[in-house]
Amino acid sequence: MKLVLGIETSCDETGAAVTTGRKVISNVVTSSLHLHKKYGGVVPEIASRCHVEYIVEVVKEALKTAGKKVSDVDLVAVTNGPGLVGALLAGISFAKAFAYARRIPVIGVNHVLAHLYSAFLNEGEVPRFPFVGLVVSGGHTALFHCRDVDRKSLLGQTQDDAVGEAYDKVAKMLGLGYPGGPVIERAARASNGSAGISFPKSYLGKDSLDFSFSGIKTAVLYYVRDNGIRGQRPEARGQRIADVCYAFQEAALDALVANTAAACAKTKSSSVVVGGGVAANKRLRDKLAEAGRLNGFKAFFPEFRYCLDNGAMIGVLGQELYKRGYRSDLRLNAEPNLKA
Ligand code: KG4
Ligand code: ZN
Repeated sequence: MKLVLGIETSCDETGAAVTTGRKVISNVVTSSLHLHKKYGGVVPEIASRCHVEYIVEVVKEALKTAGKKVSDVDLVAVTNGPGLVGALLAGISFAKAFAYARRIPVIGVNHVLAHLYSAFLNEGEVPRFPFVGLVVSGGHTALFHCRDVDRKSLLGQTQDDAVGEAYDKVAKMLGLGYPGGPVIERAARASNGSAGISFPKSYLGKDSLDFSFSGIKTAVLYYVRDNGIRGQRPEARGQRIADVCYAFQEAALDALVANTAAACAKTKSSSVVVGGGVAANKRLRDKLAEAGRLNGFKAFFPEFRYCLDNGAMIGVLGQELYKRGYRSDLRLNAEPNLKA
């Protein structure tokens, strides 16, 4: 087994990559993001239609960049869940057709697990099992104890919104556009917290490693409403928006960091691996590194290009699972709510 084609279409990114072992030879990602912006979130039907339209070109580009031909591919790895069902079906149907035409195997890959595996694609030091895995994306917020690629247990997860979703909703409230993560992070840099705004962190019980972000989100909504922030002219509200973004981000990230540190203590782990779109957040990286210094764990993050959805993480994990005897066949289907 030498060359893998990794395909990702679970949300709005259409990704294809050529990988071998842990090496990424090419990684091409395009997105229908520009078409979702005016709705303030991903519109599933638009995302699905775009995958159908983009996938062939994205795969061609990935092969071309890698200097490979269709006939060089030995295995097709494709995200089969969790995600938007129509979007998943577009990638799965392409992957199966490719594999069938070439008479090569196809393997379905869990998107959440692939996010956790992204730090293994790094060029420098990579994590080692066992570790605490923190998945933070637009659809998921969960903590796992990972003993091996195919052996993990859920320690805690969000009871309502995912953390990326909370960023997106708060950005929408503030009229900052979509996706919310990068804009809120940027806006928060203009604040030093001296405005003294603080939003409540959810408390889910002494031993709970679960999360809840809806309380913080609602507190932001009331603050914005009661302080007339949305109604102001952009020049007048700039600093106040920055202060709200800062306070929201501190509350959301502190909840992630506190539970991650507690998960390390509970499982006696000395490594943390973070994955998903919110792993791109520099403030989260700094806060976890600091918590690690204080609590005796080291935090690993994927390189920025592997934080958001991409085919490379699917290709690399797909090959690892295939090596361990996992198989799919041409009945492979979308599992929108696949248990992580
Ligand atoms: O992993 P991803 O590409 O898609 C899902 O699987 O959901 O993550 C997208 C999410 C969005 O909610 C976006 O707002 C968030 O990741 N995100 C960020 C940052 N960059 C992207 N959140 C916080 N800070 C960022 N820098
Ligand atoms: Zn994702």
